[in-house]
Amino acid sequence: MQERQIGSRTVSAIGFGEMPLSIEGRPDRTQAINAIHASLDSGVTLIDTADAYSLSTEEHGHGERLVAKALATYGGSTDDVLVATKGGHRRPGDGSWTVHGDPAYLKQACEASLVALGVEAIGLYQYHRPDPSVPYAESVGALADLLDAGKILMAGISNATVAQIDEAQQVLSGRLVSVQNEFSPRFRSSERELTHCEDIGVAFIPWSPLGGIRQADRIAVEFPAFAEVAAEAGATPEQVTLAWMLAKGTRVIPIPGSCRPATAIASAAAADLTLTPEQVARLDAS
Ligand SMILES: NC(=O)c1ccc[n+]([C@@H]2O[C@H](COP(=O)([O-])OP(=O)(O)OC[C@H]3O[C@@H](n4cnc5c(N)ncnc54)[C@H](OP(=O)(O)O)[C@@H]3O)[C@@H](O)[C@H]2O)c1
Repeated sequence: MQERQIGSRTVSAIGFGEMPLSIEGRPDRTQAINAIHASLDSGVTLIDTADAYSLSTEEHGHGERLVAKALATYGGSTDDVLVATKGGHRRPGDGSWTVHGDPAYLKQACEASLVALGVEAIGLYQYHRPDPSVPYAESVGALADLLDAGKILMAGISNATVAQIDEAQQVLSGRLVSVQNEFSPRFRSSERELTHCEDIGVAFIPWSPLGGIRQADRIAVEFPAFAEVAAEAGATPEQVTLAWMLAKGTRVIPIPGSCRPATAIASAAAADLTLTPEQVARLDAS
């Protein structure tokens, strides 16, 4: 499978987003582990999760424990797998997501993630979402301290603007390796951040690349060009969506989520689907 760089690590050009396996509507544990295993079987070496991928505060770390279990029970080697997690969101239990960017809280959340993942250092730790009540530099400063302490090996941010990317890069003394923002055919406004990441050599990780949980079918309906190109390429509109993102920059690594092994396998295959410049231009214009 085509590979890309996140900081010092080489990973598959398509990752796996764990969130649908841990939040509302999630499948049973066996199916969830089968979906992760199918993704690993397909050559995926980036798994994205978060402490808040759970149904409630009491259940925080659900997704991280699930990923740890899937890796521990996988038949093949997992040496090359980079697990990326996040801190800064909480699930109070009423379906909502709250933000918590206090540096002391983030350090405490990181300690809990280390336990949930069963590791001594986290491969990639991402600040989940800016907290308007805490200066951004203070929240990102917690990641700098965690890097210095060896608790995390690489630092990333999520849901950030271009200005916040630059601020984070400064606070981290040039050690920012990734930015995870929403990006899909329907949600293109973070193309600014995608381009900026390309310019400064930082990985750009589109979240909800297929429009979100149970929304993938809408791509072909809302953006017929994706269905047209899919027919030309002998692929599905979802695979064309992922290939289109890969064509938009050498630093782009989408993380589609899957509850089913079949969709995990289909998404991974998109890493090797190459679109012509004319097809990419048509999709851009659609
Ligand atoms: N940083 C953030 O704030 C943030 C926010 C949201 C999400 N995320 C991350 O981004 C990841 C991806 O986002 P997401 O899970 O919300 O949505 P998504 O990846 O846009 O879409 C997931 C849906 O697409 C379907 N699907 C996946 N691959 C497919 C394929 N090849 N063909 C057809 N359908 C396919 C899945 O179906 P099945 O379930 O039936 O397999 C699932 O319903 C999350 O898992 C999470 O790790 C981050």
